Amino acid sequence: MTALSIKLLSKSFGSQVVLDNLDLEINQGQIFGLIGPNGAGKTTTINCIADLLNFNSGKIEIFGQDLVSNRIEVKKNVGILFENTESLFEYLKGEEQLQFVGEIYGLDKTTIETRIYELFEYFNLEIFRWKSVSEYSKGMRKKLALASILLYNPDLIIMDEPFDGLDTLTVKKVKELIKTLKKNGKTILITSHILSYIEDITDEVAIIDNGKIVFQSPTKEIRTKFKNSTTNENYESLEEVFLDLTTEGGIQENVLSWL
Ligand SMILES: Nc1ncnc2c1ncn2[C@@H]1O[C@H](COP(=O)(O)OP(=O)(O)OP(=O)(O)O)[C@@H](O)[C@H]1O
Ligand SMILES: [Mg+2]
Repeated sequence: MTALSIKLLSKSFGSQVVLDNLDLEINQGQIFGLIGPNGAGKTTTINCIADLLNFNSGKIEIFGQDLVSNRIEVKKNVGILFENTESLFEYLKGEEQLQFVGEIYGLDKTTIETRIYELFEYFNLEIFRWKSVSEYSKGMRKKLALASILLYNPDLIIMDEPFDGLDTLTVKKVKELIKTLKKNGKTILITSHILSYIEDITDEVAIIDNGKIVFQSPTKEIRTKFKNSTTNENYESLEEVFLDLTTEGGIQENVLSWL
């Protein structure tokens, strides 16, 4: 079954075309990596899926349901970790944040309490449980935002730069967590600039550049199936594919005249 289907998605900001007839299909149970240069359109794509942006044209379906015509129903089963943890309520305490999310998603009181306890323990945030979100560090905010999603256990989880700001132990934990979510049948879409992590955990990867998908492949085939356009040798890493195929590829010399 297709978990997420994006067809011919276009989005412009003023005269700037940011998503240009983008197509993407993610099967249920996949860990899918979406990578691309800064400004390529990853977050804009996610904001369209989150229903935070009106797109100009195209169609987004989640588990076979059209997003625009089934907004409330569709979004119940999606959890999005935003790039800058924008979903957190600054002036709520950590505990209150999770309570609020649990209530919005209709969980019963006992379930909310049990899960909140486990989540604070899992993310080593117990001593911040009763502190205001505005007092959390960047990494703690990521953990709390992720906890808010895990709390209601959606089937499609989208993570925009989840590793950004996390310490080494937490990165390890989150990678394991992503693999566990997959084992439990969840579908995960993840963006990251840390390509070794993407190579490590994803089943399939797509590269977006200037609002278009320029490459897509099962992750394990990248090193054997494709050849570098310059050397005609197999790629040695996802990083090499990225540098070969995106406009960021060229490394300029002598750019800063005063250095
Ligand atoms: N609200 C907005 N108004 C105007 N332009 C925007 C807005 N949001 C994004 N853009 C533009 O859309 C383009 C894509 O931005 P987006 O945030 O989707 O990139 P990204 O791939 O997530 O990059 P990064 O790797 O830096 O997070 C950029 O040129 C950005 O300036
Ligand atoms: Mg982004």
